[in-house]
Amino acid sequence: MLLPWAPVALLLATGALEVAATTTELAHENTLPSYHYGAPIRVECMNRSSETGEHIEDAAHQIQWIPFPVCNETSQPLEFHYGIEGEQNCTIPMVSDPFFHLLEFYIHSDAPLSCRLPSRPPPHVTTVGEKPHETEYIPLVFALAGTLQLSHMHISTHMNVLLHSTPKHHIHVHDSGVLDSATAYSTSPLTHMEGSATRRLVIGDPLPLSFSVRWFPTPALPKIEGKVEWAGMGGHIYASTVFYSLVSFIAGVLVAAVYFFGSVLPRRLRGRGLGGATPLAYGLNGVGNGWGYQKRAID
Ligand SMILES: *[C@@H]1O[C@H](CO)[C@@H](O)[C@H](O)[C@H]1NC(C)=O
Ligand SMILES: *[C@@H]1O[C@H](CO)[C@@H](O)[C@H](O)[C@H]1NC(C)=O
Ligand SMILES: *[C@@H]1O[C@H](CO)[C@@H](O)[C@H](O)[C@H]1NC(C)=O
Repeated sequence: MLLPWAPVALLLATGALEVAATTTELAHENTLPSYHYGAPIRVECMNRSSETGEHIEDAAHQIQWIPFPVCNETSQPLEFHYGIEGEQNCTIPMVSDPFFHLLEFYIHSDAPLSCRLPSRPPPHVTTVGEKPHETEYIPLVFALAGTLQLSHMHISTHMNVLLHSTPKHHIHVHDSGVLDSATAYSTSPLTHMEGSATRRLVIGDPLPLSFSVRWFPTPALPKIEGKVEWAGMGGHIYASTVFYSLVSFIAGVLVAAVYFFGSVLPRRLRGRGLGGATPLAYGLNGVGNGWGYQKRAID
C-alpha cells in the first residue's frame, strides 16, 4: 500500500512548487486580457499547397496562417464564441478544385486540417514603451473523416468541438477566461452511406459543415460520480465548483485517480462495467446542457 502513495506524495510536492512558481507569474498574467463570455474566437488554419499538402511558409520561413473558409451563414470565416455551447453551421458555398484536393489530404490525414485559436483576445491598450504581448495560440486540429472514391468523396460533415479553459480559482456563471486546449472530430464516420451528416461531394458542391460545441472550465473532462458537475459555462454552477482552487484541483485529480484506479475501477470491472459511470448513462438531454448532469441534479 505504501508503494503507490510514494509517487503521489512526490507529485503533490512538485504540484505545490509549481503553484508557488506560478503565483509570481500571476501578477503579470492578470494584466493580460481574457475572453469575456460570448467573445468571438476566430479560427485560423495553415495555408497548404493543394498539390503536395505541404504547409506554405512566408519569406521569413514562418508558417502562413489564413482564416478558415468563409461560412455562407455568417459571411465570415468560422468563429466560436467563448463559453457558448450549441449547434453551429458553416456551409462553405463552393468546393473549388484546389480545396477539393486539400480535402483529400485532410481525409487521409496526410496533411491534417491544422488550425489554431488565440488563447487570449488582443489587448485593448498597449503601454507606450512596453513590448506588446505576443499572441499565443492553441492548436485545433479538425479530424475530418470520410472516404475517397475515384470521382467523388464522402465526408462526415458533423463535428464535435471540445474547448477547454485554463482553471481559475473561482468560477462564475458566464465567466471570462483563457483558452487552454481544443479538439474537433467528425462523428459517426462509419455510417458514411446513410444519414444527413454524411455528404457525397464533387468539385463545385457546397460543403455543409455542422458543429456541436461544448466548453469545459478546466483542462479536465467532467469527472465521474458528480465531483465536478458541469453544465456548460452558461449553465448552472454548483456550490462545489465555486471555490475550486488550483491546489485542491491538482491534489483532487491525483487522489481521485489513485482512488479510481485503485478502488473504484477494479470494483466496477467486477461489477456492472464502466458503462454505468459514463455521462452518457444519464441520457442526452438536448443542447447546451453539457453532460446532462443538470437533469440528474434536479431529480
Ligand atoms: C496560400 O498560399 C498560396 C500559394 O502560395 C497562395 O496563392 C494563396 O494566396 C495563399 N492563401 C491566402 C489566403 O493567402
Ligand atoms: C443547421 O443546418 C441544418 C440543416 O440545414 C438545420 O436543420 C439546422 O436548423 C441548422 N442549425 C442552425 C443552428 O442554424
Ligand atoms: C448562401 O446564402 C445565400 C443567401 O443567404 C443563399 O441564397 C444561398 O443558397 C446559400 N448558398 C449555399 C450553398 O448554402
